[in-house]
Amino acid sequence: MANFFPRWTNWLPIKLVVCGILLVCGLTGATWYYVTPKYTKVRYQPIQPVPFPHDIHVTQLGMDCRYCHSFVEMAAQSNVPNTQICMNCHTQVQKDNPKLEPVRESWKSGNPIDWVWIHRTVDYVYYNHAAHVNRGISCFSCHGPVNHMSAVYQAKPHSMAWCLECHRHPENFLRPEDQVFNLDWKPEDVKPVEFVEKYGHPSDAREDFAKKKKLTQTEIGQTLKERWNINPPTNCQGCHR
Ligand code: HEC
Ligand code: HEC
Ligand code: HEC
Ligand code: HEC
Ligand code: HEC
Repeated sequence: MANFFPRWTNWLPIKLVVCGILLVCGLTGATWYYVTPKYTKVRYQPIQPVPFPHDIHVTQLGMDCRYCHSFVEMAAQSNVPNTQICMNCHTQVQKDNPKLEPVRESWKSGNPIDWVWIHRTVDYVYYNHAAHVNRGISCFSCHGPVNHMSAVYQAKPHSMAWCLECHRHPENFLRPEDQVFNLDWKPEDVKPVEFVEKYGHPSDAREDFAKKKKLTQTEIGQTLKERWNINPPTNCQGCHR
């Protein structure tokens, strides 16, 4: 009998095996990469005892972050508000809303509400809120658009590589100190003439920023970095003390 199958099919089994091995390796690698904690933490959104809507309180009602997270400028840790803060309004507003039952319950009993902690650095990492918030880094750079979240989720990886990305190039994130709590701020909002009057130019500027219509994030960031002498640690002891 003549060759029934064409010649190339002799190689078919081995090709299938090789493809199979590559596929398995690829999938293992990808799972390793994406399923290790760094990556699964992004979008982490636990169910809270009370579905607290940041969008309503911040964007709709115009509340400042510091009304509730009152230590964020002063301490290493930010704080989550106690029940009394909620009851400043909710003894009057929405006092029959069933979503607020755990808040009323906590107020009566004196037991704090068990909020689920979302962002958490490991023990061997030193992190300090005040050191960032007072140096022109907005909540937005690390927590995303919380002011538009109906429930908080983790927006950024908070991995070591992520911390370092900013520590190496803080100019990509720095903003005027009075805009740290304005999560909707954009570089285009800056008025060049006023900005230059207040902060000047970086030493290597090749044009007059005041004559420009708009400033870019890099132009703003570079100016502030020099003006404030910003120099975040990139050595190991900076964060692992
Ligand atoms: C009316 C009070 C209130 C205001 C105003 C408020 N928050 Fe919150 N925030 C809370 C409460 C309560 C929680 C805990 C429940 C939750 O995570 O939804 C929380 C949680 C958070 C968390 C997650 C904390 C964790 O567990 O890791 C972040 C981040 C946060 N807020 C950022 C902000 C920012 C940024 C602003 C200003 C734009 C702001 N908050 C304004 C009450 C408030
Ligand atoms: C400055 C006043 C004020 C404070 C403080 C405040 N709230 Fe509210 N909250 C409001 C108002 C006003 C509304 C109603 C908004 C609306 O009807 O659109 C509301 C609505 C709500 C709702 C209902 C949302 C819905 O979809 O039905 C929840 C839940 C809530 N607040 C939880 C909290 C918690 C928890 C705290 C404390 C961490 C808190 N609030 C602090 C003013 C406040
Ligand atoms: C440079 C990044 C960065 C900035 C800027 C930042 N945070 Fe955080 N935030 C973190 C990290 C990291 C954690 C986890 C801290 C921990 O485990 O102690 C965290 C945790 C929190 C928590 C949970 C409580 C705590 O301290 O662990 C709240 C609430 C919070 N941030 C609110 C804010 C608010 C409000 C702002 C803006 C005023 C802000 N953060 C700015 C990185 C940042
Ligand atoms: C978006 C930018 C940004 C991110 C993200 C960021 N940092 Fe920073 N960090 C800064 C800036 C700016 C400073 C202030 C440098 C200065 O004052 O010269 C700073 C300072 C610090 C300092 C020194 C402050 C002190 O108290 O000694 C430590 C430690 C630090 N950061 C840790 C971290 C860790 C850990 C993370 C990640 C969880 C992180 N940072 C993420 C921008 C950032
Ligand atoms: C800007 C802050 C920062 C600096 C600087 C830094 N680290 Fe880290 N490091 C972190 C954070 C945050 C984590 C935790 C990462 C996580 O939870 O995913 C970490 C985790 C680690 C881990 C645990 C393994 C891992 O990847 O989770 C090792 C090992 C480590 N760092 C070594 C170093 C060494 C060595 C240096 C100096 C070359 C260094 N770090 C500098 C912030 C920093």
